[in-house]
Amino acid sequence: MTDFSAIKKRFPIFTNQPNLVFLDNGASTQKPQAVIDAITELYTKYYANVHRGIYKNSERATDMFEAVRGKVQKLIGAAHEQEIIFTKGTTESLNTIAYTWGERNIQAGDEIVVSLLEHHANFIPWQQLCQRKGATFKIAMPEKDGTLSVEAVKKQLTPKTKLVAITHVSNVLGVITPVRAITAAAHKVGAKVVVDAAQSIAHLPVNVQDIDCDFLVFSGHKMYGPTGVGILYGKRELLENMEPFMFGGNMINEVTIERSTWAPVPEKFEGGTPAIAEVIALAPAIDLLQEVGFDAIRAHEKELLTYALQQLATLPDITIYGPQDADKISGVISFNLDTVHPHDTGTLVDEKDVAIRVGHHCAQPLTNFLGVIGTCRASFAIYNTKADVDRLINALKHAQKVFK
Ligand code: ALA
Repeated sequence: MTDFSAIKKRFPIFTNQPNLVFLDNGASTQKPQAVIDAITELYTKYYANVHRGIYKNSERATDMFEAVRGKVQKLIGAAHEQEIIFTKGTTESLNTIAYTWGERNIQAGDEIVVSLLEHHANFIPWQQLCQRKGATFKIAMPEKDGTLSVEAVKKQLTPKTKLVAITHVSNVLGVITPVRAITAAAHKVGAKVVVDAAQSIAHLPVNVQDIDCDFLVFSGHKMYGPTGVGILYGKRELLENMEPFMFGGNMINEVTIERSTWAPVPEKFEGGTPAIAEVIALAPAIDLLQEVGFDAIRAHEKELLTYALQQLATLPDITIYGPQDADKISGVISFNLDTVHPHDTGTLVDEKDVAIRVGHHCAQPLTNFLGVIGTCRASFAIYNTKADVDRLINALKHAQKVFK
Protein backbone atom coordinates (compact mmCIF):
# COMPACT_ATOMS: atom_id res chain seq x y z
CA MET A 1 0.00 0.00 0.00
CA THR A 2 1.24 3.42 -0.91
CA ASP A 3 2.07 5.65 2.03
CA PHE A 4 0.72 9.00 0.85
CA SER A 5 1.88 10.85 3.96
CA ALA A 6 5.45 9.84 3.06
CA ILE A 7 4.84 11.25 -0.43
CA LYS A 8 3.77 14.56 1.13
CA LYS A 9 7.19 14.79 2.81
CA ARG A 10 8.79 14.96 -0.62
CA PHE A 11 7.15 18.37 -1.17
CA PRO A 12 9.23 20.90 0.80
CA ILE A 13 6.52 23.58 0.88
CA PHE A 14 4.71 21.46 3.49
CA THR A 15 7.82 21.37 5.69
CA ASN A 16 8.21 25.13 5.35
CA GLN A 17 4.49 25.76 5.89
CA PRO A 18 3.35 22.88 8.08
CA ASN A 19 -0.07 24.43 8.58
CA LEU A 20 -0.82 24.80 4.88
CA VAL A 21 -3.74 22.87 3.40
CA PHE A 22 -3.33 23.22 -0.32
CA LEU A 23 -6.54 22.50 -2.22
CA ASP A 24 -5.91 24.52 -5.37
CA ASN A 25 -4.18 21.77 -7.31
CA GLY A 26 -6.47 22.24 -10.31
CA ALA A 27 -4.78 25.61 -10.80
CA SER A 28 -1.26 24.34 -10.19
CA THR A 29 0.38 21.67 -8.04
CA GLN A 30 3.23 22.00 -5.57
CA LYS A 31 6.67 20.73 -6.56
CA PRO A 32 8.56 17.78 -5.09
CA GLN A 33 12.20 18.27 -4.04
CA ALA A 34 13.33 16.13 -6.98
CA VAL A 35 11.87 18.63 -9.45
CA ILE A 36 13.46 21.58 -7.65
CA ASP A 37 16.79 19.70 -7.52
CA ALA A 38 16.70 18.93 -11.24
CA ILE A 39 16.42 22.65 -12.02
CA THR A 40 19.22 23.56 -9.60
CA GLU A 41 21.42 20.76 -10.86
CA LEU A 42 21.11 21.89 -14.47
CA TYR A 43 21.93 25.51 -13.70
CA THR A 44 24.73 24.71 -11.27
CA LYS A 45 26.38 21.78 -13.04
CA TYR A 46 25.93 21.59 -16.80
CA TYR A 47 23.70 24.34 -18.20
CA ALA A 48 23.95 25.20 -21.90
CA ASN A 49 21.55 25.69 -24.76
CA VAL A 50 20.20 22.56 -26.42
CA HIS A 51 20.29 21.29 -30.02
CA ARG A 52 23.04 23.77 -30.98
CA GLY A 53 26.34 23.13 -29.27
CA ILE A 54 28.87 20.46 -30.13
CA TYR A 55 30.54 20.81 -26.73
CA LYS A 56 29.97 18.48 -23.78
CA ASN A 57 27.62 20.60 -21.68
CA SER A 58 25.32 21.32 -24.60
CA GLU A 59 25.29 17.66 -25.57
CA ARG A 60 24.48 16.62 -22.01
CA ALA A 61 21.69 19.21 -21.71
CA THR A 62 20.34 18.09 -25.10
CA ASP A 63 20.39 14.41 -24.06
CA MET A 64 18.58 15.20 -20.80
CA PHE A 65 16.06 17.37 -22.66
CA GLU A 66 15.37 14.78 -25.37
CA ALA A 67 15.09 11.96 -22.82
CA VAL A 68 12.00 13.73 -21.44
CA ARG A 69 10.33 13.48 -24.83
CA GLY A 70 10.64 9.70 -24.52
CA LYS A 71 9.26 9.79 -20.97
CA VAL A 72 6.22 11.80 -22.09
CA GLN A 73 5.72 9.43 -25.01
CA LYS A 74 5.58 6.49 -22.59
CA LEU A 75 3.40 8.36 -20.09
CA ILE A 76 0.66 8.93 -22.68
CA GLY A 77 1.25 5.84 -24.78
CA ALA A 78 2.12 7.71 -27.98
CA ALA A 79 3.33 5.61 -30.90
CA HIS A 80 6.31 7.84 -31.72
CA GLU A 81 8.60 10.18 -29.80
CA GLN A 82 8.27 12.73 -32.64
CA GLU A 83 4.60 13.12 -31.77
CA ILE A 84 5.53 14.97 -28.57
CA ILE A 85 6.00 18.72 -28.96
CA PHE A 86 7.12 20.92 -26.09
CA THR A 87 5.17 24.16 -25.71
CA LYS A 88 4.75 26.72 -22.95
CA GLY A 89 1.57 25.12 -21.64
CA THR A 90 -1.90 23.83 -22.48
CA THR A 91 -3.04 27.23 -23.74
CA GLU A 92 -0.15 27.51 -26.18
CA SER A 93 -0.70 23.92 -27.32
CA LEU A 94 -4.35 24.59 -28.12
CA ASN A 95 -3.66 27.88 -29.87
CA THR A 96 -0.92 26.19 -31.90
CA ILE A 97 -3.44 23.63 -33.18
CA ALA A 98 -5.92 26.40 -33.98
CA TYR A 99 -3.36 28.48 -35.87
CA THR A 100 -1.71 25.61 -37.73
CA TRP A 101 -4.13 22.77 -38.36
CA GLY A 102 -7.14 25.08 -37.94
CA GLU A 103 -6.06 27.80 -40.37
CA ARG A 104 -5.37 25.21 -43.05
CA ASN A 105 -8.30 22.87 -42.56
CA ILE A 106 -11.29 24.92 -41.45
CA GLN A 107 -13.29 26.62 -44.21
CA ALA A 108 -16.51 28.63 -44.37
CA GLY A 109 -19.47 26.35 -43.70
CA ASP A 110 -17.48 23.85 -41.63
CA GLU A 111 -18.46 23.07 -38.06
CA ILE A 112 -16.45 22.81 -34.85
CA VAL A 113 -17.99 21.17 -31.78
CA VAL A 114 -16.89 21.83 -28.20
CA SER A 115 -18.69 21.09 -24.96
CA LEU A 116 -20.03 23.63 -22.49
CA LEU A 117 -17.62 22.22 -19.91
CA GLU A 118 -14.57 23.65 -21.62
CA HIS A 119 -12.00 25.89 -20.00
CA HIS A 120 -11.68 29.15 -21.98
CA ALA A 121 -8.39 27.82 -23.41
CA ASN A 122 -10.29 25.05 -25.20
CA PHE A 123 -13.23 27.29 -26.10
CA ILE A 124 -12.05 30.69 -27.31
CA PRO A 125 -9.44 29.47 -29.85
CA TRP A 126 -12.19 27.49 -31.64
CA GLN A 127 -14.80 30.24 -31.31
CA GLN A 128 -12.34 32.74 -32.81
CA LEU A 129 -11.25 30.32 -35.54
CA CYS A 130 -14.90 29.87 -36.54
CA GLN A 131 -15.37 33.65 -36.62
CA ARG A 132 -12.25 34.13 -38.79
CA LYS A 133 -13.34 31.42 -41.21
CA GLY A 134 -17.11 31.76 -41.30
CA ALA A 135 -17.46 28.31 -39.74
CA THR A 136 -20.14 27.32 -37.22
CA PHE A 137 -19.25 26.98 -33.54
CA LYS A 138 -21.45 24.33 -31.89
CA ILE A 139 -21.85 23.39 -28.26
CA ALA A 140 -22.57 19.96 -26.80
CA MET A 141 -24.64 20.52 -23.67
CA PRO A 142 -24.06 18.64 -20.41
CA GLU A 143 -26.82 17.14 -18.29
CA LYS A 144 -28.12 19.22 -15.39
CA ASP A 145 -25.54 17.66 -13.07
CA GLY A 146 -22.72 18.50 -15.47
CA THR A 147 -22.09 15.04 -16.90
CA LEU A 148 -21.49 14.93 -20.63
CA SER A 149 -22.93 12.06 -22.62
CA VAL A 150 -21.70 10.76 -25.97
CA GLU A 151 -25.26 11.34 -27.24
CA ALA A 152 -25.00 15.07 -26.43
CA VAL A 153 -21.89 15.28 -28.62
CA LYS A 154 -23.38 13.03 -31.33
CA LYS A 155 -26.37 15.40 -31.55
CA GLN A 156 -24.02 18.15 -32.74
CA LEU A 157 -22.11 16.02 -35.25
CA THR A 158 -22.86 16.31 -38.97
CA PRO A 159 -20.85 15.55 -42.12
CA LYS A 160 -19.71 19.20 -41.89
CA THR A 161 -18.02 18.68 -38.50
CA LYS A 162 -14.28 19.06 -38.95
CA LEU A 163 -13.16 19.20 -35.31
CA VAL A 164 -14.36 18.16 -31.87
CA ALA A 165 -12.51 19.71 -28.91
CA ILE A 166 -13.33 18.13 -25.56
CA THR A 167 -11.92 18.24 -22.07
CA HIS A 168 -11.09 14.91 -20.43
CA VAL A 169 -11.98 16.29 -16.98
CA SER A 170 -13.88 19.50 -16.25
CA ASN A 171 -11.79 21.98 -14.23
CA VAL A 172 -14.97 23.24 -12.53
CA LEU A 173 -16.96 20.08 -11.81
CA GLY A 174 -14.36 17.34 -12.11
CA VAL A 175 -16.69 15.50 -14.50
CA ILE A 176 -14.87 12.78 -16.45
CA THR A 177 -16.00 12.80 -20.08
CA PRO A 178 -16.24 9.70 -22.31
CA VAL A 179 -13.39 10.85 -24.57
CA ARG A 180 -12.91 7.46 -26.19
CA ALA A 181 -16.53 7.11 -27.30
CA ILE A 182 -16.67 10.78 -28.33
CA THR A 183 -13.55 10.28 -30.46
CA ALA A 184 -15.03 7.21 -32.14
CA ALA A 185 -18.26 9.11 -32.92
CA ALA A 186 -16.34 12.13 -34.24
CA HIS A 187 -14.16 9.96 -36.46
CA LYS A 188 -17.29 8.39 -37.97
CA VAL A 189 -18.20 11.77 -39.47
CA GLY A 190 -14.59 12.41 -40.47
CA ALA A 191 -13.81 14.98 -37.75
CA LYS A 192 -10.52 15.30 -35.90
CA VAL A 193 -10.49 15.30 -32.10
CA VAL A 194 -8.56 17.45 -29.63
CA VAL A 195 -8.53 16.27 -26.01
CA ASP A 196 -7.67 18.73 -23.23
CA ALA A 197 -5.99 16.56 -20.60
CA ALA A 198 -4.83 19.44 -18.37
CA GLN A 199 -6.98 18.26 -15.46
CA SER A 200 -6.63 14.52 -16.02
CA ILE A 201 -2.94 13.98 -16.67
CA ALA A 202 -1.96 13.79 -12.98
CA HIS A 203 -5.08 11.88 -11.95
CA LEU A 204 -6.11 9.26 -14.50
CA PRO A 205 -4.28 7.00 -16.91
CA VAL A 206 -4.18 8.78 -20.27
CA ASN A 207 -3.39 6.72 -23.35
CA VAL A 208 -3.61 8.51 -26.68
CA GLN A 209 -3.67 5.30 -28.73
CA ASP A 210 -6.47 3.92 -26.62
CA ILE A 211 -8.48 7.16 -26.87
CA ASP A 212 -7.40 7.39 -30.53
CA CYS A 213 -7.58 11.21 -30.35
CA ASP A 214 -5.75 13.22 -32.99
CA PHE A 215 -4.34 15.80 -30.57
CA LEU A 216 -3.96 15.84 -26.79
CA VAL A 217 -2.63 18.68 -24.67
CA PHE A 218 -1.58 19.29 -21.07
CA SER A 219 0.72 21.34 -18.82
CA GLY A 220 3.68 20.30 -16.69
CA HIS A 221 2.77 22.53 -13.75
CA LYS A 222 -0.46 20.65 -12.98
CA MET A 223 1.43 17.36 -12.71
CA TYR A 224 4.06 18.33 -10.11
CA GLY A 225 6.41 19.70 -12.76
CA PRO A 226 7.59 23.25 -13.44
CA THR A 227 5.60 26.07 -15.00
CA GLY A 228 6.40 27.11 -18.57
CA VAL A 229 6.30 23.65 -20.13
CA GLY A 230 3.36 22.07 -21.86
CA ILE A 231 2.79 19.21 -24.23
CA LEU A 232 1.17 19.09 -27.61
CA TYR A 233 0.66 15.52 -28.77
CA GLY A 234 -0.44 15.00 -32.36
CA LYS A 235 -0.61 11.98 -34.61
CA ARG A 236 2.59 11.98 -36.66
CA GLU A 237 0.95 12.14 -40.07
CA LEU A 238 -1.12 15.16 -39.02
CA LEU A 239 1.86 16.99 -37.57
CA GLU A 240 3.93 16.27 -40.65
CA ASN A 241 1.27 17.86 -42.84
CA MET A 242 0.87 20.95 -40.68
CA GLU A 243 2.64 24.26 -41.25
CA PRO A 244 4.74 25.62 -38.40
CA PHE A 245 3.34 28.40 -36.23
CA MET A 246 6.46 30.04 -34.80
CA PHE A 247 9.28 30.87 -37.16
CA GLY A 248 12.84 31.22 -35.92
CA GLY A 249 15.86 29.22 -34.88
CA ASN A 250 15.90 25.44 -34.58
CA MET A 251 12.78 24.85 -36.69
CA ILE A 252 14.25 25.15 -40.18
CA ASN A 253 15.87 22.90 -42.72
CA GLU A 254 17.24 25.61 -45.00
CA VAL A 255 16.73 29.36 -45.27
CA THR A 256 17.61 31.40 -48.35
CA ILE A 257 16.57 34.89 -49.41
CA GLU A 258 13.86 33.35 -51.58
CA ARG A 259 12.42 30.66 -49.36
CA SER A 260 12.63 28.58 -46.19
CA THR A 261 12.01 24.91 -45.56
CA TRP A 262 11.24 23.29 -42.27
CA ALA A 263 12.87 20.77 -39.99
CA PRO A 264 10.97 17.52 -39.42
CA VAL A 265 8.58 17.19 -36.47
CA PRO A 266 8.88 17.88 -33.61
CA GLU A 267 11.55 20.60 -34.24
CA LYS A 268 9.30 22.25 -36.83
CA PHE A 269 7.02 23.33 -33.97
CA GLU A 270 9.72 24.21 -31.45
CA GLY A 271 11.17 27.44 -32.82
CA GLY A 272 13.47 29.39 -30.48
CA THR A 273 15.22 28.32 -27.29
CA PRO A 274 12.84 26.07 -25.38
CA ALA A 275 12.21 25.97 -21.63
CA ILE A 276 15.31 23.82 -21.10
CA ALA A 277 15.31 23.62 -17.30
CA GLU A 278 11.55 23.20 -17.11
CA VAL A 279 11.49 20.36 -19.61
CA ILE A 280 14.40 18.58 -17.90
CA ALA A 281 12.73 19.00 -14.50
CA LEU A 282 9.51 17.49 -15.83
CA ALA A 283 11.29 14.12 -15.78
CA PRO A 284 11.23 13.60 -11.97
CA ALA A 285 7.56 14.65 -11.94
CA ILE A 286 6.73 11.94 -14.46
CA ASP A 287 8.88 9.49 -12.47
CA LEU A 288 6.85 10.29 -9.36
CA LEU A 289 3.53 9.63 -11.11
CA GLN A 290 4.82 6.36 -12.50
CA GLU A 291 6.38 5.28 -9.23
CA VAL A 292 3.12 5.77 -7.34
CA GLY A 293 1.10 4.44 -10.28
CA PHE A 294 -2.31 5.53 -11.51
CA ASP A 295 -4.16 2.70 -9.75
CA ALA A 296 -2.96 3.94 -6.37
CA ILE A 297 -3.37 7.60 -7.33
CA ARG A 298 -6.97 7.06 -8.42
CA ALA A 299 -7.83 4.92 -5.39
CA HIS A 300 -6.43 7.58 -3.04
CA GLU A 301 -8.25 10.34 -4.90
CA LYS A 302 -11.58 8.48 -4.87
CA GLU A 303 -11.27 7.95 -1.13
CA LEU A 304 -10.62 11.67 -0.62
CA LEU A 305 -13.42 12.75 -2.97
CA THR A 306 -15.92 10.42 -1.32
CA TYR A 307 -14.93 11.64 2.14
CA ALA A 308 -15.00 15.30 1.07
CA LEU A 309 -18.45 14.91 -0.54
CA GLN A 310 -19.78 13.28 2.64
CA GLN A 311 -18.32 15.92 4.91
CA LEU A 312 -19.40 18.87 2.76
CA ALA A 313 -22.95 17.48 2.73
CA THR A 314 -23.04 17.69 6.54
CA LEU A 315 -22.77 21.50 6.36
CA PRO A 316 -26.03 23.47 6.38
CA ASP A 317 -26.77 25.86 3.51
CA ILE A 318 -24.34 24.41 1.01
CA THR A 319 -24.84 23.71 -2.69
CA ILE A 320 -22.53 21.15 -4.26
CA TYR A 321 -22.22 21.22 -8.05
CA GLY A 322 -21.63 18.29 -10.35
CA PRO A 323 -22.36 14.61 -9.84
CA GLN A 324 -21.73 13.67 -6.22
CA ASP A 325 -20.17 10.37 -7.11
CA ALA A 326 -16.41 9.79 -6.99
CA ASP A 327 -16.67 7.34 -9.90
CA LYS A 328 -17.84 10.15 -12.18
CA ILE A 329 -15.44 12.90 -11.14
CA SER A 330 -11.72 13.42 -10.77
CA GLY A 331 -9.69 15.87 -8.72
CA VAL A 332 -12.26 18.60 -8.20
CA ILE A 333 -15.33 19.48 -6.13
CA SER A 334 -17.18 22.77 -6.61
CA PHE A 335 -19.63 24.18 -4.09
CA ASN A 336 -21.05 27.40 -2.67
CA LEU A 337 -22.08 28.35 0.81
CA ASP A 338 -25.56 29.74 0.20
CA THR A 339 -25.13 32.70 2.55
CA VAL A 340 -21.54 33.63 1.66
CA HIS A 341 -20.16 35.07 -1.58
CA PRO A 342 -17.54 32.68 -3.01
CA HIS A 343 -14.83 35.35 -2.80
CA ASP A 344 -15.60 35.89 0.89
CA THR A 345 -15.48 32.13 1.43
CA GLY A 346 -12.07 32.00 -0.26
CA THR A 347 -10.71 34.80 1.91
CA LEU A 348 -12.15 33.36 5.14
CA VAL A 349 -10.86 29.82 4.60
CA ASP A 350 -7.46 31.33 3.79
CA GLU A 351 -7.52 32.83 7.30
CA LYS A 352 -7.33 29.19 8.40
CA ASP A 353 -4.48 28.46 5.93
CA VAL A 354 -6.71 26.54 3.56
CA ALA A 355 -6.10 27.46 -0.09
CA ILE A 356 -8.97 26.95 -2.53
CA ARG A 357 -9.87 28.68 -5.79
CA VAL A 358 -13.01 30.78 -6.14
CA GLY A 359 -14.61 32.42 -9.17
CA HIS A 360 -15.58 31.30 -12.65
CA HIS A 361 -12.43 29.18 -13.07
CA CYS A 362 -11.95 30.42 -16.66
CA ALA A 363 -15.11 28.57 -17.68
CA GLN A 364 -17.78 31.28 -17.80
CA PRO A 365 -20.15 29.49 -20.18
CA LEU A 366 -20.31 26.68 -17.62
CA THR A 367 -20.77 28.89 -14.54
CA ASN A 368 -23.52 30.74 -16.47
CA PHE A 369 -25.17 27.35 -17.12
CA LEU A 370 -24.95 26.58 -13.39
CA GLY A 371 -26.60 29.96 -12.75
CA VAL A 372 -23.83 31.27 -10.50
CA ILE A 373 -21.23 34.04 -10.72
CA GLY A 374 -18.67 31.58 -9.47
CA THR A 375 -18.02 28.65 -7.19
CA CYS A 376 -15.61 27.61 -4.48
CA ARG A 377 -13.40 24.82 -5.77
CA ALA A 378 -11.42 22.34 -3.72
CA SER A 379 -9.03 20.41 -5.95
CA PHE A 380 -6.90 17.53 -4.77
CA ALA A 381 -3.44 16.08 -5.35
CA ILE A 382 -1.45 13.06 -4.18
CA TYR A 383 -0.26 14.85 -1.03
CA ASN A 384 -3.74 15.65 0.28
CA THR A 385 -5.19 13.68 3.18
CA LYS A 386 -8.49 13.26 5.00
CA ALA A 387 -7.08 15.62 7.64
CA ASP A 388 -6.92 18.29 4.90
CA VAL A 389 -10.63 17.71 4.22
CA ASP A 390 -11.37 18.11 7.95
CA ARG A 391 -9.45 21.38 7.95
CA LEU A 392 -11.46 22.57 4.92
CA ILE A 393 -14.73 21.74 6.66
CA ASN A 394 -13.69 23.60 9.83
CA ALA A 395 -12.59 26.59 7.76
CA LEU A 396 -15.97 26.60 5.97
CA LYS A 397 -17.75 26.50 9.36
CA HIS A 398 -15.66 29.54 10.33
CA ALA A 399 -16.81 31.33 7.13
CA GLN A 400 -20.44 30.49 7.89
CA LYS A 401 -20.09 31.77 11.45
CA VAL A 402 -18.71 35.11 10.25
CA PHE A 403 -21.69 35.57 7.95
CA LYS A 404 -24.36 34.41 10.39
N1 ALA B 1 -6.85 26.15 -15.51
C1 ALA B 1 -6.47 26.32 -14.14
C2 ALA B 1 -7.65 26.18 -13.22
O1 ALA B 1 -8.64 25.64 -13.55
C3 ALA B 1 -5.71 27.56 -13.93
O2 ALA B 1 -7.57 26.64 -12.10
